[in-house]
Amino acid sequence: MDIGAHPPSRSAAQDAVRLARERYGLEARACPLPSEYDDNFRLETADGSVRVLKIMHPMRDPGFVDMQCAALRTIAERAPGLPVPEVIPDREGRPWSTTALGENPFRLVWMLSYLPGRPIAGVRPVTHGLLDELGGTLARLDLALTGFSHPSARRELKWDFARAGWIRDHLEAVRDPRRRALVERVLARYDAEVVPALPRLRRSVVYADANEHNVLVRVEPGRLPRLAGLIDFGDMIETVVAAEVAVASAYAAFGTADPLGAVLSLVAGYHCVLPLAEEELAVLDALILTRLAVSVVNSACRAAAEPGDPYLIVSEAPAWAALEAFERVPPRLAHYALRAVCGLAPAPHGPAVVRWLQGSAGSFAQVLERDLRKEPVVVLDLSVGSRMLGADPAGLEAPRLTETISKTMKDAGAVVGVGRYDEARAIYTTGAFAAGGSPTAERRTVHLGIDLSVAPGSVVRTPLDGTIHTVADNAAPKDYGPLVILRHEIPSGEEFFTLYGHLDPDSVAGLKPGRILRAGETFAAVGAPPRNGDWWPHVHVQIILDLLGLDEDFPGVAAPGRRSLWTGLSPDPNLLLGIPGDRFPRPEPSKAETLEARHRLLGRNLSVSYREPLKIVRGWMQYLYDETGRAYLDAYNNVPLVGHSHPRVVRAVQDEMALLNTNTRYLHDNLVSYAERLTDLMPAPLRVCYVLNSASEANELALRLARTHTGREDVIVLESAYHGHTSGLIDISPYKFDGPGGKGRKPWVHVAPLPDDYRGPYRRDDPEAGKKYAAAVGHLGDEAKARGGLAAFIAETLPSVAGQIVLPRGYLAEAYRYVRAAGGVCVADEVQVGFGRLGTHFWGFETQGVVPDIVVLGKPIGNGFPLAAVVTTEAIAASFANGMEFFSTFGGNPVACAAGLAVLDVMEEERLQERALRVGGHFIAGLRKLAERHAIIGDVRGSGLFLGLELVRDRRTLEPAAAEASYVVERLRDRGVLAGTDGPLHNVIKIRPPLCFSEADAELFVAALDEVLSEDPVRIP
Ligand SMILES: Cc1ncc(COP(=O)(O)O)c(C=O)c1O
Repeated sequence: MDIGAHPPSRSAAQDAVRLARERYGLEARACPLPSEYDDNFRLETADGSVRVLKIMHPMRDPGFVDMQCAALRTIAERAPGLPVPEVIPDREGRPWSTTALGENPFRLVWMLSYLPGRPIAGVRPVTHGLLDELGGTLARLDLALTGFSHPSARRELKWDFARAGWIRDHLEAVRDPRRRALVERVLARYDAEVVPALPRLRRSVVYADANEHNVLVRVEPGRLPRLAGLIDFGDMIETVVAAEVAVASAYAAFGTADPLGAVLSLVAGYHCVLPLAEEELAVLDALILTRLAVSVVNSACRAAAEPGDPYLIVSEAPAWAALEAFERVPPRLAHYALRAVCGLAPAPHGPAVVRWLQGSAGSFAQVLERDLRKEPVVVLDLSVGSRMLGADPAGLEAPRLTETISKTMKDAGAVVGVGRYDEARAIYTTGAFAAGGSPTAERRTVHLGIDLSVAPGSVVRTPLDGTIHTVADNAAPKDYGPLVILRHEIPSGEEFFTLYGHLDPDSVAGLKPGRILRAGETFAAVGAPPRNGDWWPHVHVQIILDLLGLDEDFPGVAAPGRRSLWTGLSPDPNLLLGIPGDRFPRPEPSKAETLEARHRLLGRNLSVSYREPLKIVRGWMQYLYDETGRAYLDAYNNVPLVGHSHPRVVRAVQDEMALLNTNTRYLHDNLVSYAERLTDLMPAPLRVCYVLNSASEANELALRLARTHTGREDVIVLESAYHGHTSGLIDISPYKFDGPGGKGRKPWVHVAPLPDDYRGPYRRDDPEAGKKYAAAVGHLGDEAKARGGLAAFIAETLPSVAGQIVLPRGYLAEAYRYVRAAGGVCVADEVQVGFGRLGTHFWGFETQGVVPDIVVLGKPIGNGFPLAAVVTTEAIAASFANGMEFFSTFGGNPVACAAGLAVLDVMEEERLQERALRVGGHFIAGLRKLAERHAIIGDVRGSGLFLGLELVRDRRTLEPAAAEASYVVERLRDRGVLAGTDGPLHNVIKIRPPLCFSEADAELFVAALDEVLSEDPVRIP
């Protein structure tokens, strides 16, 4: 029956209200819901409860409704928690009934519970986690329906996989010949693979309609969307069980750049709950393609029937896109990937080949003249965190890399250098390998072969009998160069291939496919750069179980996210090479192992960032790299001021460490030079330096200086301030003593209100705001005086932990005046703010036109080497020199001072303060532009490369968007961008990158943020 041919006679909301009252005893308001054929109404009662009343199309068969009622009842009984609607019986206990409406004597009426949620269509983001959850839920649904049957489930439906062949007769509706050919190819696969398999596959009644309007999700502020439920059981049918996941997969592939990835997540979720059999997986990708083909032909037919309906064209676009993208996946790869996510060997014949290779171990000929089983070989560490390679990408360029490798081999007395299989490699982190030009996107890094490094010209032999399959020259830089692929067969008939890359072009010039080679036969020689793909001299040896039709384009490296698939298709070549296992170092612990060890061995409150923590193994300038080679743009870490692993600082530390590291009891010029350079950067009275290891140690010393000098104890601090982790500093850090686990304020501590001109009582439109906030410092000075006197006022000169608060003009001048009047000294904590980061000034206090009595420095000044300093006046230093010795074992040692001097050199030579001003200006302008489009951005503030973005749910009430801020930081991380949150309300995104940050980096950050802020959990309605 084609219901579409019979236009519905629409019932009105008052019919729904009446039926609800008469049949269900429910007083409710009715509001029509969109529906193609039937009349659905949302009923809302006075107490706010909601239900759905369905008045079916007059042509509907009662069996159709009865089937759904019976199925939903079965699900409710067998899987009570499953988020599907419940059938609400009428007053007489009937699941459905009929009524006469208008000229129709029989309209079926039934009622369902209402599932809150938004259709997944258009929801952003649809994460892999959400698809996994959807897969799992569909599997639980199918489990609940196991054994369920209903006569109406055995029906003819154009969506039934058994009937998909109908589209063959409607191909002319697809006008574009290229697209028609695509559908024909899908039909050919359907005929060849699906039709013969269908009778063998498990059958059941399935829901079979997890489309983007029937899958509901819960979208809450600051939380990733979660599955809320599944609705519309009208397409239920008895068919193959695999239809469930095939239909859902077809829709999951809509609107994503990686349709296969989406499908894999969904299938993985399904398989965890209801395992798919091998024969189901064998046809699943063909089923998905079939469903997409049926969908596009169906749309094309409708468009042909209703020309001029632009909606039809728009709605079919995602199905075409998914179909075209899915069809581009190389043959069999989707099948293998589906097997891999279900924990099976990707290629079905793989285990037999691997078993045979294992069983034949020791019998293979050597690939090189050298016997790798006996001769000295050295395993090279080419991993992302390789100490042999270091962080500088220049070390990964061909000539330097060649040098490094030959030196390593020479030092080890090795005749062959072995590059590891299944190793995520540093070389692929360089710009040349960026995926789609994006520096932070996941890229292919995992090496699928073993590299044998030997002199150019060394012969290459086949380890076992084979036939030459491919001879090619992939001449593009950093490709295989000249390569040969051999085909082999194991005694039971399964085939596999071996690939040899980076060969000498002359050595392979005469090779012809089809030539048979005997085990041990020489067929090529190792090439040299640049003709070998421009690599150091080595041969790349890889086993390939199925060439996937890719031949010379078969990848030699894989994306970490698809590691198990590709390593499954290219097993360890050492199965052939036979290098003894003890030559390989123990593998690095996995991220999960590191995390577990950290929990076991370290204090529990040592926090780790991100829901999915990062294991960072390498840093270079403004980028950090995880163990898989994924690059992260670091907009968060202010400690590596001049850039991670800045070579100048690294060299200074290495050179000094290799010469001397003592302490300040001996004379050393590094210490005095450093003190001189630091004090030269300060205004006149600040002339005396103390050099220490950490900012906490420095702030502790600052307190001692102030107290010794004044002979008093009390301290004024700012609300939400943090000054360090020692007991004394926790006492002056409201962020800690008022936070979780804190013990509250000590009587000698006085807390001044945060001069926050965005949220506080005095705002930016008040020119006197600075003075007004500072008045509180005056009152607290009086309070301290009454207790015996004020020792110090300590404040960051642009409070960071408190939320990147730019102090209102005149605040510090006025506050310092009150403090000095009360007999206290003024301490500027420049630990985060100082050292050129603000761009306009080298020190934060300069932005306020004041000169403190004590300045505290830390974090960035050693670029990561433990180094901190206190700079004060002669008078205060004199008071402190009271006979008690001052000594910090590591403070001011020659190595630390060498680091500090190098940082100052780089700051000057690379004009990083100027750069902070320029790049920061560009950055802040980009962020302000975003604020015009994203209402959640309440405030953009800061200076240079010390920025804050305050997120609010309402720009009028300033309701803080804390969950959203954490969400943004997590989602930026997913895009390879690091930022943090801060502020007493946890709603400020803090941006403090290394000063080598560029305009392009700022733009990348802004673009990533723009994408994140377009996601539903952070959109302000
Ligand atoms: C403003 C400020 N002062 C002092 C410190 C203490 O620094 P450290 O942990 O290096 O001792 C911090 C650390 O976050 C800080 O942000």
